[in-house]
Amino acid sequence: MIGRLNHVAIVVPDLTVARTLYRDMMGATVSAEEDLPEHGVTTVFVELSNTKIELLHPLGEKSPIQGFLDKNPSGGVHHLCYEVAEIDAARDQLVASGARILGDGEPRIGAHGKPVLFLHPKDFCGTLIELEQA
Ligand code: CO
Repeated sequence: MIGRLNHVAIVVPDLTVARTLYRDMMGATVSAEEDLPEHGVTTVFVELSNTKIELLHPLGEKSPIQGFLDKNPSGGVHHLCYEVAEIDAARDQLVASGARILGDGEPRIGAHGKPVLFLHPKDFCGTLIELEQA
């Protein structure tokens, strides 16, 4: 079921600083900042040859990542995103195996315009996992 690592998401306290670090110190190709109001985040994508790094910063007062940044003021790894071929089939298989899906359990459209789901970190070794339909 599990496919490629699509991205690793890192919550950062300052998106401009983080973007500059990856671009100038690491020599990576980085995207412009993009506001995603429906997700409560601003994103920058760092392109690597085999995956991406998603830099995240809270947007708006009800951002779902504000609590994470409050607990981790220097930033930190927030989630891993794995690709799956069929997100509904993957969800059904995981739920049948006892995994918990966050929210109402229905896929929603994520940062790349594709359906995504999040799995409960307590079911996966303390790691928040995003599944994205490839
Ligand atoms: Co993500």
